[in-house]
Amino acid sequence: MATAHIIDGKATAEQLRVGIAKAVASLAAEHGFMPGLAVVLVGEDPASQVYVRSKGKQTAEAGMASFEHKLPACTGEAELLALVDKLNRDPAVDGILVQLPLPKHIDCKKVIEAIDPAKDVDGFHPLNAGRLATGERALVPCTPAGCLILAKSAATSLAGMNAVIVGRSNIVGKPMAQLLLGQDCTVTIAHSRTRDLPAVVGGADLVVAAVGRAEMIKGAWIKPGAIVIDVGINRVEVGGGKSRLVGDVEYAAAAERASAITPVPGGVGPMTIACLLRNTLEAACARRGIAMPEV
Ligand code: GUN
Repeated sequence: MATAHIIDGKATAEQLRVGIAKAVASLAAEHGFMPGLAVVLVGEDPASQVYVRSKGKQTAEAGMASFEHKLPACTGEAELLALVDKLNRDPAVDGILVQLPLPKHIDCKKVIEAIDPAKDVDGFHPLNAGRLATGERALVPCTPAGCLILAKSAATSLAGMNAVIVGRSNIVGKPMAQLLLGQDCTVTIAHSRTRDLPAVVGGADLVVAAVGRAEMIKGAWIKPGAIVIDVGINRVEVGGGKSRLVGDVEYAAAAERASAITPVPGGVGPMTIACLLRNTLEAACARRGIAMPEV
């Protein structure tokens, strides 16, 4: 049985980070500035704490300034909005990321809409979402941006492909659809109410799985030769008090049919922070009227 090419997200992300670090160094030499990223974490969610720590570390390694704001879970909405406003006005801050999820008493939509769209390195502000949808230059959400880089690495062109995205979130599914339309794919977004999901997935030349349910997409559904990009990171118990990470796709069975597939971990995950750094660089250049270097 043929086995798929394993798309190495870790190596691709590393390559991207090296390119970004070089661009940051040359911008510092030529224009005398350092891009800055502010990350705001409200509360003590352990997964969020891990993400925020890696973001801070990788931002510094890329030669950028990292500003971390850790607020207690009881922080009020007005206090968070005041911090966002302060960061919007801070010239040393080019990118603002408010880690999600936020505690329930804070209206996440209000916070996202308060971020200056020019500093919205998550690409979640409606202005950036609208720009992406209308094909204008926009700050693009990091996870789908990373997925696109990986999908493109597995084919000479994505044009004309039937792309099926499973999951319709604002963070992954919807922006992914826009990015793949931009690559001239024929795009379907499937979701929890989709009829006959196996048949819909079975028609895809490119599958992007972003449902957040362990191994929900079965290997037998995958069309032979398809490209499979798995966004899922699900922790499953394996007995004896041990657990392991699995994606949204039944990996081993899918790898026997796909032409290329991302592993979990080591696929989409590492790309997200690399794309966040790229967005920060892009925002820093755009705010100063400097052309974004090729990375
Ligand atoms: N929580 C999990 N992923 C993300 C992300 O990409 N951005 C933000 N802001 N929060 C997240």
